[in-house]
Amino acid sequence: MNNFIFENSTKVYFGKDCVKEYLSCLAGKHGDKVLLAYGSGSIKKNGIYDEVKDILEKAGKEIIEFSGIMANPTYEKVLEGARLAKDSKADWILGIGGGSVMDCCKAVSMAAVSEKDIWDEYWAKPGVVDFEPLPLGVIVTVAGTGSECNGGAVITNEALKVKTGRDYPKCNPEFALMDPCYTYTVPQKQMVSGSFDILSHIMETYFSEPNEDNVSDDISEALMRSVIKNLRAAIKNPKDYTARSNLMWASTMAENRIIKLGKKCDFECHQMEHQLGAYTDCNHGCGLAVLHPVYYRHIYRDGLSKFVRFAENVWGISRDGKSDEELAKAGVEALADFIKEIGLPTTLRELGLESDDGLKEIAESCNIAPGSYKKMTHEEIYEIFKESF
Ligand code: NZQ
Ligand code: ZN
Repeated sequence: MNNFIFENSTKVYFGKDCVKEYLSCLAGKHGDKVLLAYGSGSIKKNGIYDEVKDILEKAGKEIIEFSGIMANPTYEKVLEGARLAKDSKADWILGIGGGSVMDCCKAVSMAAVSEKDIWDEYWAKPGVVDFEPLPLGVIVTVAGTGSECNGGAVITNEALKVKTGRDYPKCNPEFALMDPCYTYTVPQKQMVSGSFDILSHIMETYFSEPNEDNVSDDISEALMRSVIKNLRAAIKNPKDYTARSNLMWASTMAENRIIKLGKKCDFECHQMEHQLGAYTDCNHGCGLAVLHPVYYRHIYRDGLSKFVRFAENVWGISRDGKSDEELAKAGVEALADFIKEIGLPTTLRELGLESDDGLKEIAESCNIAPGSYKKMTHEEIYEIFKESF
């Protein structure tokens, strides 16, 4: 295995009723003024908002509301949250939602303290966080990004047409409350796209060097099988606690740095999806679903042994006289079939793109990931976009 250092500072409280049981005590450890951050209002419909507000009020907290965080949060929204936190002298932030809320809160936790333009200093390029961001706690309401257990925050700069993520360990939430029952109300389309995001994070890690036997790849195979099985179960019965809890924890496991230890990681598909998102505001998991099979048809020959393992160990495809190449290809096609089965889009057209005119510009704006089995060029990314159209 390659050398690594591992740390994850987020304390997780997982399971049914964890918010009722622990939030009051956790709030007691922080100051009186809390910036309560959330999205477009799902938490008001499903009762989570009332439950949390009641606990915070009983704990004597003054609540400053920061609402309307959109999917694919923008830098403008981060600045709005930072102004609110500064003006109200908020002591800490409590984010309730999915990746968009959590990511926005992490950036706000920095911008509320730093005097610098945090886009220029920390998102346009990697920076050094030499200060303490505002403390952040999160309540997760949808499985997918795993943002609750890392310092990653993906922010869209609309003016520059750039969507980019950075992972600063100082932005790891101090605590994450994860009640799988909170995800029961997630619309099926979002549940499926979030689950595909989990699968994507695992694949982007698994399909990279080293190829020699390592613990990470074995864990990844188990996680991928679990996501496939439990997503099928949750589609059948959205209130299947076992399925929802497995999806929720798989989401964390995929992005809490554990499976990345000693791995190069690819994440080229994420680079491509992020720029598609910057130009079209498409849903993250849906964008990934369109791109992954096409990307893998381009690279599987360069990572043949791992794609063979994927076919056999994740999809249970038997060799039956197939060559390595045939077996590897069968694994990629099993992935493509699964995407259709769970009802995700398979073309950029289905994602809402009306014309392929802008694809070259989007392709040229994508970063080239250094860990891919096959180093992409902007021309090849353009080919992938055209084939995905
Ligand atoms: O706006 P609200 O009311 O929160 O509604 C959300 C939103 O409409 C809804 N939702 C969430 N929980 C719900 C619910 N609806 C009903 N009941 C519930 N319990 O679901 C919709 C999507 O939420 P969002 O937070 O946007 O989804 P997701 O968790 O997929 O986050 C996507 C964002 O995270 C970034 C993506 O690029 C995208 O911007 N990512 C963050 C990563 C990270 N920090 O590590 C890694 C990922 O690769 C990803 O790039
Ligand atoms: Zn993702």
